Amino acid sequence: MKQDMILIFDLGCTENARVARAVRALGVYSEIHPYDLAQSEMEKMPNVRGIILNGGPNRVVNGAAIDAPAWVYTCGLPLFAVDHPAVENDLPAWPEDDQTIAECLRPFVFDVCNAQANWSMENFIEDQVALIRRRVGDKKVLLALSGGVDSSVVAALLIKAIGRQLVCVHVNHGLLRQGEPEQVVQVFREEMNADLVYVDAVDRFLDKLENVADPEQKRKIIGAEFIRVFEEEARKLEGIDFLAQGTIYPDILESGTKTAAVVKSHHNTGGLPDDLKFELVEPISQLFKDEVRACGLALGLPASMVYRQPFPGPGLGVRCTGAITRDRLEAVRHSDAILREEFANAGLDQTVWQYFTVVPDFKSTGVRDGARCYDWPVIIRAVNTVDAMTAEVEELSWPLMHKITNRILAEVKGVNRVLVDISPKPPATIEWE
Ligand code: XMP
Repeated sequence: MKQDMILIFDLGCTENARVARAVRALGVYSEIHPYDLAQSEMEKMPNVRGIILNGGPNRVVNGAAIDAPAWVYTCGLPLFAVDHPAVENDLPAWPEDDQTIAECLRPFVFDVCNAQANWSMENFIEDQVALIRRRVGDKKVLLALSGGVDSSVVAALLIKAIGRQLVCVHVNHGLLRQGEPEQVVQVFREEMNADLVYVDAVDRFLDKLENVADPEQKRKIIGAEFIRVFEEEARKLEGIDFLAQGTIYPDILESGTKTAAVVKSHHNTGGLPDDLKFELVEPISQLFKDEVRACGLALGLPASMVYRQPFPGPGLGVRCTGAITRDRLEAVRHSDAILREEFANAGLDQTVWQYFTVVPDFKSTGVRDGARCYDWPVIIRAVNTVDAMTAEVEELSWPLMHKITNRILAEVKGVNRVLVDISPKPPATIEWE
């Protein structure tokens, strides 16, 4: 391992991730661990240079204040202890902006711990490649490659480490955006020489979804069918010992700590049946999202893949509301492609967090070529958010809305109206289903 490391012990602080990011912003790798980490675990970690004992409002557990184990105080590593205020004082544990946190920690990290600022993507990749090779040996690894940022970066990292010992399975469920399955095949099979199994499951998914109008039911069908298809492919392959996953650091941090309640459960393991026993490989599980993107770029993935906007697992299925029909799904896919192209032309693809179109399952009257038509509307949605828990609508200019509207009305079959959804979240959610 090349990188020096600062450990953050979670003693009930609610801002561990910001502190870890601040240390990384100084160029030094950092990891968050529970307050009662065993000394033997710490000793397995290379190049630990110091420990931050990060106390905070959750420090009292079951009526008693928690503390780090005795070995921490005698192990000889430099310690930086933070204990601030009880909740009722309503004071923040750390300064408001991340830059100030980094500056607070700079003297400790460099002058007291003598850490080297050697946390870089190149060193991270080199370390991970060595770790993966050591762990996997000559065995094979399976990866469900959706084409999203996280699974794509994991694929690129594993290809660098073990080449064709990685088997990628890309399931096209028919609910992907225009050009996505083709890009996955082009980038990974053609350009990176990956062993890629492409599964065309379009009919299978759309047949299962026929006449299913309930949004929750649709999601369940898509999720369960995905596992089934992936499992079938996994059974066809021989000699696979490992399953790779695109778990990232926020997934782990959000699944709860010993001092904080669970935010959302972390269920990346995908619900595969018990008799398919794999060891997990999660090589980007210590990276924050911006670091995942930097890793992807450093591995040579195209920017269009690395800076892809968030896309829900059920794909366009939640944007073709009610019971999905193939022609209406094509209207969603085609209008989404036009919207993405025009946002890119206007430079908005760099600034707007998420933007897409929805085609609802109702029609309205219009007139085309002198005759009555009865067609669907297309709804445009463009939002900005920090954490997807709340969202504000992007204010689009009229000329841009006109341009997108004219193109959709001229090019997308079966559409005679364009609407813009200007509802914030809450009360609306970002997606329509
Ligand atoms: P909502 O609609 O709940 O969406 O405001 C918040 C964010 O989550 C995305 N989203 C999903 N992502 N699987 C995912 O991986 C899903 O089932 C799913 N549903 C919503 C949505 O696109 C938005 O970014």
